[in-house]
Amino acid sequence: MKLGVNIDHIAVLREARMVADPNPLDALSIVKRAGADQITIHLREDRRHIQDIDALNIIYHSSLPVNLECALAPEIINIVCELHPHRVTLVPEKREEVTTEGGLNILGNNEQLKATIERLQNEEMEVSLFIDPTLENVEMAKELGVEWIEFHTGKYANLYAMLYGNLGNTHHTIPELELPRKELVQMIEDEISTLRTLSCDAMEMDLKVAAGHGLNYQNVKDIADIETIEELNIGQSIVARSIFTGLEQAILDMKTLLIR
Ligand code: PXP
Repeated sequence: MKLGVNIDHIAVLREARMVADPNPLDALSIVKRAGADQITIHLREDRRHIQDIDALNIIYHSSLPVNLECALAPEIINIVCELHPHRVTLVPEKREEVTTEGGLNILGNNEQLKATIERLQNEEMEVSLFIDPTLENVEMAKELGVEWIEFHTGKYANLYAMLYGNLGNTHHTIPELELPRKELVQMIEDEISTLRTLSCDAMEMDLKVAAGHGLNYQNVKDIADIETIEELNIGQSIVARSIFTGLEQAILDMKTLLIR
């Protein structure tokens, strides 16, 4: 199982004071030394964490492949074509959200999506679509000709947090769901089974499968055990732990959980 470390949250801390540190660029050598496989960053339209200059420096200096997440916005796509990361993951974006709340809507009218994928691929970047785990989405991703899909694991993470009393990402809790324990356990099992089946389907369609969002040291094991998922992208929980253990140890701890 490969690990992409999402280092946006280092920039979140810097932007909270609008100062110069911590600089996400300083994470590159540590992430590499800890044995992770990829650097993941999200260049948001509102630039709330990673700035253009961060993306430029990170892509230029990283010896690990860089997976750049971004919205399907022409201004951002133009920048991405200049930056030329190894992979571009297209994600939905809402200005008012705290984090990416769901997968990209790829069903409906997707002329703009098709044109963007083609443009990125013509410039020799791999393209990934961040999608909710449904068969329709997987089939559409295949039709759109992308190399990768990334399943949004937010629903799984939410259910897990509800069952185990908010271990990890507290803000993921959905208050409306006061469900009995048995029902929650079943829903978590169903979600894992959906991810397992769909990643198998995707692999048979020659799509590479990643997953991420809300994964942490408590909930990652069941997802890491799905053999057909090649890569996990994890940010918040690793950077949160790094405050207490240092970034290298936080990544090593996560890597231990990904051994299958
Ligand atoms: N993958 C994608 C596509 C994301 O947008 C995010 C969040 O930025 C992540 C993975 C990582 O999520 P988290 O920070 O909750 O680990």
